Amino acid sequence: MASKNQHILLQFVLLLCIFCSSQGKEFIKPGQRRPSYIKRASSFSSAEERGSYDYIIVGGGTAGCPLAATLSRRFKVLLLERGGSPYGNRNISRLQNFHISLTDTSPSSPSQPFISTDGVINARARVLGGGSCINAGFYTRASPSYVNAAGWDGNLVNESYPWVERRIVFWPKIAPWQSALRDGLLEAGVSPFNGYTYDHVYGTKVGGTIFDPKGFRHTAADLLAAGKPQNLRVLLHATVQKIVFDTQGRRPKAVGVLFKDESGRQHEAVLRDGAGEVILTSGAIGSPHLLLLSGIGPESELEKWKIPVVLPNQHVGKGMSDNPMNSIFIPTKRPVRQSLIQTVGITKMGTFIEASSGFSQSSDSIRCHHGIMSAEIGQLSGIPPKERTLEAAQKYARNKQDLPWEAFRGGFILEKIEGPLSTGELTLVNKDISSNPSVTFNYFSHPRDLKKCVYGIRTIEKVLRTKHIVSLTGDDEYSMKVLLNMSVKANLNMIPKHTNDTASIEQFCRDTVVTIWHYHGGCHVGKVVDRDYRVLGVAGLRVIDGSTFVNSPGTNPQATVMMMGRYMGVKMLRERLGRAADGV
Ligand SMILES: Cc1cc2nc3c(=O)[nH]c(=O)nc-3n(C[C@H](O)[C@H](O)[C@H](O)COP(=O)(O)OP(=O)(O)OC[C@H]3O[C@@H](n4cnc5c(N)ncnc54)[C@H](O)[C@@H]3O)c2cc1C
Ligand SMILES: *[C@@H]1O[C@H](CO)[C@@H](O)[C@H](O)[C@H]1NC(C)=O
Ligand SMILES: *[C@@H]1O[C@H](CO)[C@@H](O)[C@H](O)[C@H]1NC(C)=O
Ligand SMILES: *[C@@H]1O[C@H](CO)[C@@H](O)[C@H](O)[C@H]1NC(C)=O
Ligand SMILES: *[C@@H]1O[C@H](CO)[C@@H](O)[C@H](O)[C@H]1NC(C)=O
Repeated sequence: MASKNQHILLQFVLLLCIFCSSQGKEFIKPGQRRPSYIKRASSFSSAEERGSYDYIIVGGGTAGCPLAATLSRRFKVLLLERGGSPYGNRNISRLQNFHISLTDTSPSSPSQPFISTDGVINARARVLGGGSCINAGFYTRASPSYVNAAGWDGNLVNESYPWVERRIVFWPKIAPWQSALRDGLLEAGVSPFNGYTYDHVYGTKVGGTIFDPKGFRHTAADLLAAGKPQNLRVLLHATVQKIVFDTQGRRPKAVGVLFKDESGRQHEAVLRDGAGEVILTSGAIGSPHLLLLSGIGPESELEKWKIPVVLPNQHVGKGMSDNPMNSIFIPTKRPVRQSLIQTVGITKMGTFIEASSGFSQSSDSIRCHHGIMSAEIGQLSGIPPKERTLEAAQKYARNKQDLPWEAFRGGFILEKIEGPLSTGELTLVNKDISSNPSVTFNYFSHPRDLKKCVYGIRTIEKVLRTKHIVSLTGDDEYSMKVLLNMSVKANLNMIPKHTNDTASIEQFCRDTVVTIWHYHGGCHVGKVVDRDYRVLGVAGLRVIDGSTFVNSPGTNPQATVMMMGRYMGVKMLRERLGRAADGV
């Protein structure tokens, strides 16, 4: 009995500590069970729940969660997520486990790997909270000019970002590798220093993060707590296969969806009669994929797969882009502490410079890793894209113990380009929503993208020569030689030999390209959806997520994706209710 009380007391103290360290944010505490409105998909009853929802939202991701929370303040919402719960999963919640989810390729993993036809290994989220559960956590807003170009209401945007920030965004405790980049950037002329800010401004800054100071991840799923629990039904392992349309009227109208639960049983969710809507927030791969399988897309593509055409639209799945990332490994005299992205240099040339460091404080190389550049998660930048495979990544993981731990002692400086201007497409390979469609990004097919990469590599070279970085790398010739010997096996890119030779840097850009996972497009505004994100030519259907972007917002997109979920929720409530939407 006594020990049980002690146990309860201990738990209470633990919870209290966690609460105290949380900077007073409203969120679900670490280790807490998932909230009661989150259920398994098999708890759904097609008959009893028929017609009881005003909104059916497909995809409980980075945009879907804030949108569902907001709409539930006034209406009944059903949120369907194909993945499981992030709560209680340390692979998701701990910063030092960032690379773990991405290594796990099993069907229950929160990350689903895919390889674009370009040969770059990539990842899609498959969990409640979406990309915010597996990403590097960096949080930074889009510029006012991006907001203008999107046609968004700047005031509502400026209310929606803080709505997210109050709940799940923190200022980082800046890690040594990140402050080295900050000082190096300033010395290399990427100035002024703009301090700690969410704003997108030229120069060098420290951005926000969804990791709290203890390294605990807060996610878009935590934003559901801002909804009205009685109005919110969230189903896990609910894989939507098809949108259901009423095709009797002048134009097709979305009336519900078909989904499979965790045991493979099919259900039909049907909207309440009237003004209800189906909203796709399934991400840049999921949303165009689902439109195609539901009969909205290029006619030839639909006919090829014998999908009944609901509405021809040649633009669905077109304009897919992924911002290329290229990086340089910088060996150091001493181990550097693990860090994901905290600092960014925003250049006027449209190149963003960031940094990351892995884990190297051990003589046991099996536990060492290269953070966001880990070869075992598919960042095989030492192999030309077309030769990369998931098997190569797994082989690397198996043979890691053969690498000296010095190969992990150092950090990366990386560059990502804005836009990009290069585009590709998404097409079907079968009719199964759970498998990946074929995706092509055509990295660097636009010459201006390549120019930006070259500029980025040259900027990194300047940073490398600054006294701040030189003091970390030093002149340890021996370890440098070991590393140069190892660099192929360890899959590391050093600075290209001839940085004054543009052609050789261009080749370096192409050969070492990996992803920073900011892929977007497939449902562009003006082509697939209108400025209110309504699917053109169809009633009762919207797409609200990264698939609508022509360019990736800010230096890193998640802030704007979450903002967009909140923003559109408020906008839709205001349009439907007027003043009655005040205070949501
Ligand atoms: C490894 C990684 C690191 C990143 N690092 C950063 C970073 O540091 N900073 C930053 O700003 N951005 C980062 N990003 C990018 C950012 O996380 C994504 O751009 C963003 O999360 C995309 O949001 P979304 O709402 O468009 O899609 P998602 O968040 O992917 O949401 C889509 C959701 O829909 C679900 N879904 C899909 N299809 C169906 C279906 N048929 N039925 C039911 N559910 C479905 C998915 O499971 C998923 O939960 C990173 C991304 C990754 C993958
Ligand atoms: C965490 O990842 C490891 C390695 O992939 C896996 O074995 C384990 O089951 C995962 N844990 C959870 C809770 O998913
Ligand atoms: C929104 O906030 C940003 C700063 O974060 C500011 O630059 C911009 O002018 C604001 N927009 C409006 C419409 O007030
Ligand atoms: C590098 O590799 C060469 C050839 O394999 C070997 O002779 C040399 O000793 C290695 N140098 C170091 C410092 O490990
Ligand atoms: C690049 O610079 C090196 C040394 O600074 C020089 O030897 C070489 O000729 C230069 N190459 C080109 C293409 O300018």
